Amino acid sequence: MDYSIESLSLDKLQSDCLLVGIYENQQLSPVATALDGLCNGLLGKLIARGDIKGKNAESLLINNVPHADIERIVLVGFGEAGKVTRKLYRKALAAAIKTVKESKVKTATCALLDIEVEHADTQWQTRQIVEVFNDNLYQYSATKQCDEKLPLQQLRIVATEHHKQYAESGLLQGVAIAQGVELTKQLADLPGNICTPSYLAEQALVLSGQHEKLNCEILEESDMEALGMGAFLSVSRGSRQPAKLISLYYQGSDASVKPIVLVGKGLTFDAGGISLKPGLGMDEMKYDMCGGASVLGILRAATLLNMKLNIVGLIPSSENLPDGNANKPGDILTSMSGKTIEVLNTDAEGRLILCDTLTYAKKFNPEVVIDLATLTGACIVALGRVPSGLFGNDDMLCDDLLSAGETACDSVWRMPVWEEYQEQLKSNFADLANIGGPDGGSITAACFLSRFAEDFRWAHIDIAGTAWRTGANKGATGRPVPLVSQYLLNRISA
Ligand code: BES
Ligand code: MN
Ligand code: ZN
Repeated sequence: MDYSIESLSLDKLQSDCLLVGIYENQQLSPVATALDGLCNGLLGKLIARGDIKGKNAESLLINNVPHADIERIVLVGFGEAGKVTRKLYRKALAAAIKTVKESKVKTATCALLDIEVEHADTQWQTRQIVEVFNDNLYQYSATKQCDEKLPLQQLRIVATEHHKQYAESGLLQGVAIAQGVELTKQLADLPGNICTPSYLAEQALVLSGQHEKLNCEILEESDMEALGMGAFLSVSRGSRQPAKLISLYYQGSDASVKPIVLVGKGLTFDAGGISLKPGLGMDEMKYDMCGGASVLGILRAATLLNMKLNIVGLIPSSENLPDGNANKPGDILTSMSGKTIEVLNTDAEGRLILCDTLTYAKKFNPEVVIDLATLTGACIVALGRVPSGLFGNDDMLCDDLLSAGETACDSVWRMPVWEEYQEQLKSNFADLANIGGPDGGSITAACFLSRFAEDFRWAHIDIAGTAWRTGANKGATGRPVPLVSQYLLNRISA
């Protein structure tokens, strides 16, 4: 898809398909009002007839427009004027795209920057237009023939002369984040027999090859052995695929500037190991690498935007399978930190690969460390599939992530990592156990990680409920790429 900004001059406008807005109570947006004048009052007539009311996410495709240069118009409802929230704006955009898709046009023109959105400006609106369009135009095609190839190839976003510069910068951000999201979704949707740890490592190398400031290093099992990563390696012992620790270094700032370290769980398939998962829905555990795929997506966005930051991406990648050589309940591991761990459930493997990676992260002298992980089913029980779970040992970092999530419409909700919960991780045979019983499962998982993040500012984002959709519409979402990209953008402007 090609996205561009164009100056708004209605009398000269040519379009196969022009999107304009309408508020509830049948009130046309300023652009739609002007357009109505150029089309002999057609929009007004359709409204009077009751064809569209302007409720949020309503949309109406108008063919045969009485205008020499405009073939079609899509009227998009945004809801009550003055009450369009950021979420409602996105919702209406998504509905509009469905109608554009049905119209089968090759190019579309979006004149929806004149809609008033609470707590939003032109830059934000432009960015969202690109992000929401791109997200809804995504088609998985790696192992399946597309039902029908989408003809839409170009989206032109019109802006007034006054707003053009903000629209341009919003477009750049939107395209970068959208491409990051797209990469994450493509990798995440791949099956476990294609997307193995080695495959992820190759893709990281491909990504780093696309940008001068991005470098990649792959640590092999022998390297991890030498580092003493006993927890990580215990998980991969049950798999025939070799584990990889993918390290990406993005240097967009002076070498002396402390990096932001992003750690992404990269379990390319999680069967649970000896503590085998039930069969129903187990296919979805191919998505257990979404944290890792998100790190790649975020780095993609960072490179496209030439962010003036240093970022280290660390992706521990492995499978978790039952095998004669696999972890067993009761086994004791020695992590890289020296702490011993009793494996009470081999299905709590994410924290085992993450804890050694967190210990490893220390060597980069990080500004902050943020890990992204499909860590616990309990997080879905606690929060559903709306926000991701946010945990951390630093209030300022957590506040920054909360507000970035609001802006990006990729929300997180903070959960406690209190001392009291640490009790649940006590073991009679090791320094800590890898599970804390049935109560507060996403919290005790975070408590486990916190024991390996004592030396730096750290946040953990549990994306178990948000990284993919389950059910008939099954597919990766690309979350939390928009959230973390926004956090990085905010850091640059701070
Ligand atoms: N990858 C899973 C978490 C998960 C489960 C994410 C379902 C999304 C949907 C993780 O490795 C896991 O198996 N966690 C266990 C922990 C338990 C054994 C303490 C879980 O959530 O059941
Ligand atoms: Mn598991
Ligand atoms: Zn897992």
